[in-house]
Amino acid sequence: MTELLDYRARFPILEHTTYLINHSLGAMPAAVEERTREYARTWAERGIRAWGEGWWTMPLTVGDQIARIVGAPPGTVCMHQNVSIAEAIVLSCFQEPGARNRVVYERENFPSVRYVYQSRRDLEVVATDDVLRAIDERTLLVPVQHVLFKSAEIQDVEAIVRRAHDVGAHVVLDAYQSAGTVPLDVTALDVDFAVGGSVKWLCGGPGAGWLYVRPDLIERLEPAVTGWQAHARPFAFEPELEYADGIARFLTGTPNVPALYACTPGYDLIEEIGVERIRASSLRQTQLLIDGADARGFEVRSPRERERRGGTVTVHVPDFEAVHKELSERQILCDVRPEAGIRLGPHYFNTDGELEHVLEQIAEIVASGAHERWLGATARF
Ligand SMILES: Cc1ncc(COP(=O)(O)O)c(C=O)c1O
Repeated sequence: MTELLDYRARFPILEHTTYLINHSLGAMPAAVEERTREYARTWAERGIRAWGEGWWTMPLTVGDQIARIVGAPPGTVCMHQNVSIAEAIVLSCFQEPGARNRVVYERENFPSVRYVYQSRRDLEVVATDDVLRAIDERTLLVPVQHVLFKSAEIQDVEAIVRRAHDVGAHVVLDAYQSAGTVPLDVTALDVDFAVGGSVKWLCGGPGAGWLYVRPDLIERLEPAVTGWQAHARPFAFEPELEYADGIARFLTGTPNVPALYACTPGYDLIEEIGVERIRASSLRQTQLLIDGADARGFEVRSPRERERRGGTVTVHVPDFEAVHKELSERQILCDVRPEAGIRLGPHYFNTDGELEHVLEQIAEIVASGAHERWLGATARF
């Protein structure tokens, strides 16, 4: 078995930075370069024939690889550009909600997702600190996160699914912050839908979002957000819509082929290592970060308990935005979220020494005031 740290050589950016921002943009595997060249070569040499030689079905073949990572059966996951599109497709299956027109989600839901539901005037959206209590007979959909994006807290998805199903509501699980670092089994969780992207822990880059639909729901639903890839006979160019069988009916138009090439080297590594092994390493390293923060008197604003802790530790120090900017100048890449603090997201290829280094640097910056030159500057990434 390959030692986790031997995977460092597969990620070029680790040679010159301390890369702790895998909850935002996971490090790029070197193999993406060759894979992207393969895309260009295929287009250059195979031209139009490429569609029949794999390009057309890539949203489904790549989807099957995601399925293996998230505990879904083959033929239940398809690829889209991002989570917003995937959620919009789910929502579009419920065109005339009638009296069951409530959408319930946690107050800290990701903006992209909230906007999709808020845009529908016929829905009543409830953003709450108590999702379980807010779910009732009027609830149509419960689009919640597995791991909260700001605090990295793991939610009790089992309880939410149980409550939602008791009253006839559907759960749409946003697993963006868990897939690839926290074990996820959409079948065992019995969620109705799950969505995610590849930018973060999967190290698959932008443009490769995914949508899972529970097998028994697939043939019963007819998404209004659609396109010719969702048609039963796309190449007949028929004037009337007839949905394809299977997960293909959740597709739209021409697929995002370059992104679907670029995303698979990251998935290959996740599959090779296994999410359970990644989680064990993450739990050990997030504990090191928490202990190191405590020892230096930094406030930890992410969960401490193992069962509730995702892959990111959030450390709050005064003027943390400016401290973050100074870290970035020192080639330490992490990020900040308003009212939260500095987010540190180690992945399987980070060393313990790197964790020690970032904490030492934060302490040194705060003590020396080196960050003061950045006070007032706003950081976007
Ligand atoms: C939990 C969560 N959902 C969704 C997104 C992104 O949504 P989209 O793919 O629409 O950009 C993010 C982060 O970018 C996220 O952390």
